[in-house]
Amino acid sequence: MKLLITGGAGFIGANFVRYVYINHPDVAITILDKLTYAGNRVNLTGLLKARVRLVVGDITDESLVDTLMSQTDVCVHFAAESHNDNALVHPKEFLQSNVIGTYTLLEAARKYQVRFHHVSTDEVYGQLPLEPKSAKFTTSSRYAPSSPYSATKAASDMLVQGWVRSFHVRATISNCSNNYGPYQHIEKFIPRQITNILSGRRPKLYGSGKNVRDWIHVEDHSRAIWAIITRGHIGETYLIGADEQHSNLEVVETLLQLMGQPSDAFDYVADRPGHDARYAIDASKIRRELGWTPLHTDFKGGLAQTIDWYQQHCDWWQNQKRAVEARYAQHDQ
Ligand code: NAD
Ligand code: DAU
Repeated sequence: MKLLITGGAGFIGANFVRYVYINHPDVAITILDKLTYAGNRVNLTGLLKARVRLVVGDITDESLVDTLMSQTDVCVHFAAESHNDNALVHPKEFLQSNVIGTYTLLEAARKYQVRFHHVSTDEVYGQLPLEPKSAKFTTSSRYAPSSPYSATKAASDMLVQGWVRSFHVRATISNCSNNYGPYQHIEKFIPRQITNILSGRRPKLYGSGKNVRDWIHVEDHSRAIWAIITRGHIGETYLIGADEQHSNLEVVETLLQLMGQPSDAFDYVADRPGHDARYAIDASKIRRELGWTPLHTDFKGGLAQTIDWYQQHCDWWQNQKRAVEARYAQHDQ
């Protein structure tokens, strides 16, 4: 199989490349990545060999996308601007990459009849109330994005649905909950707090800290995507989640405890505008139809491993820390 992976130098994309490289030696991988601030060639260390090549370029570049898609059997599309806080400051880049980029890829997938998998987010469904925790997003949930980022992801999902229906593009969509694990950019919640503690800063909790996210280890997300591209049904949407709902406060307290700090050694800071209260995924469809199940079922153990990874890879994040925190300083009043 010839696989084109967009955004393969970012957090989830690089973990997916690694997963495929290790588990499926018959697959040849081309990565298309612009190497924005979130993409890093180092994330692919040890992988850029005969079976994996990196093409540095933009998914909105029609001619480049046309060439690469003509050489592809299956495209897995991760590339996106992915951070909510950034979308609140400069939303236009999100429209360009997430909407126009997805459109550009779909047109090429249509031309060359390439199977296309669109990696999306649970945030397209908006927010759930904090209680009851048993209420979850399903594939019948209404699209109700509440942020500039989630609006662009919702738009991209709808483009995929339109291209399937009108042009018979052989596409699938997955909407996954919050990922954690190695190689996640330190602007994101869990790595930000781990690297805050490692660099002598205090973790920062937005608003009340009561907001809930449904966490999944990035390796389980990779395995779910592999199941979809090999066994999933064209035109279908699959929701991916590992039943790990935790408030942000619980996560920060667990990180502090695992890192030997007092559990109240954090600061409350200004809330994120439009901050969604809770996300939670009902993943029964992918479990039932594709036999997928998460293997990382010990969240606290997964956090401990993630802490170890950031401890052992200080040179991966240290030189970005000051700039990331300087950007946040304008927000954390
Ligand atoms: P990330 O920000 O870590 O990585 C994004 C990658 O895309 C980077 O390597 C970047 O260089 C590349 N990229 C961005 N714009 C590009 C463009 N115009 N052309 C080519 N490359 C471009 O993001 P992530 O957290 O790995 O998320 C990957 C995908 O998964 C996104 O589509 C995101 O919406 C989705 N998703 C993320 C999560 C999560 O918890 N992080 C959960 C569900 C879905
Ligand atoms: O749900 C899937 C989504 O998860 C993905 O689509 C996004 O790409 C990904 O970034 C993530 O979005 P969130 O906004 O949920 O993730 P983030 O890591 O930014 O924040 C997680 C929670 O932690 C959220 O409630 C905001 C809060 N937070 C975040 C930061 C950075 C804090 O309390 N303090 C912080 O410093």
